Amino acid sequence: MRQTSQISKLTSVRAGFMALALTIIGAGFSAAQAEEAPAAAPAAAAVVPGKPKTDPAAGEALYSNGDASRGVVACVGCHGPNGKSASGAWPKLAAQHPAYIVKQLKNFKEGTRANAVMMGMAAPLTEQDMANIAAYLGKQEPSPGVATNKDTIELGQSIYRGGIASKGVPACAGCHSPNGAGIPSQYPRLSGQWADYANAQLIAFREGTRMNAPKMTVISSKMNDKEMKAVADYMAGLH
Ligand code: HEC
Ligand code: HEC
Repeated sequence: MRQTSQISKLTSVRAGFMALALTIIGAGFSAAQAEEAPAAAPAAAAVVPGKPKTDPAAGEALYSNGDASRGVVACVGCHGPNGKSASGAWPKLAAQHPAYIVKQLKNFKEGTRANAVMMGMAAPLTEQDMANIAAYLGKQEPSPGVATNKDTIELGQSIYRGGIASKGVPACAGCHSPNGAGIPSQYPRLSGQWADYANAQLIAFREGTRMNAPKMTVISSKMNDKEMKAVADYMAGLH
């Protein structure tokens, strides 16, 4: 116990130092900019809005230890070491695309993705925190999974690859890519994700508790429970 708290103390000291160092570098940078172009935009624009410089090491520290002084809870407790969570109650975040993670955290914060737990977790995060954590998670190895229901695997595969033509459901592969790795900055990785979690998201899209993806709202509204379960199970084993 004592060792753990010393390590986390050390880590937060290190994180604090890095934040300080970055602030100093940042201040130097904007001062230099201001000298070169005094009449242009105000010097405070060292960080381009919407495109903060990311610091994966600071992201890792926040992910692993939280920050009690700001009410940030350690993500690792639910999402697991390196973003590999231990059960379908919590999504795997390893190797998820950073832009997607940042978007989800903003959506939780603003409430377009209504989840009581994550709305609380996202509330104290700044945009810089979000970008840092996302950069750290995006660098982790993907966490493979397995499909567990052999009775529905064929149905799941046919939906993933070909959609359901009779109902106008498009092929999931068309956006999420044939191997489920997704497409950075547009479509999230689905391969290896816990089936229980993916299934719960499809239901949340259909029921309107998750309102941050109009395309997924339309697609899920055309799917029944059996189809959702089948495709979620198939995607867990996809790689
Ligand atoms: C107490 C458990 C818990 C903690 C701690 C926690 N989360 Fe979560 N997280 C969840 C749950 C549950 C969900 C699924 C929410 C849903 O169903 O919409 C989730 C979902 C997410 C998602 C969306 C994943 C996806 O594939 O769309 C992201 C991103 C995320 N969490 C990031 C974080 C970060 C960053 C932290 C730390 C600051 C954190 N979480 C702390 C439980 C937790
Ligand atoms: C037209 C493109 C498109 C198609 C086709 C599509 N999706 Fe998606 N899907 C998206 C987008 C965009 C998101 C991310 C939304 C967001 O930013 O929150 C998403 C998110 C998801 C998520 C949530 C992932 C997470 O980590 O929470 C699941 C699950 C999902 N899609 C399943 C499917 C399935 C199953 C199919 C096929 C039946 C499918 N999608 C077809 C665009 C698509």
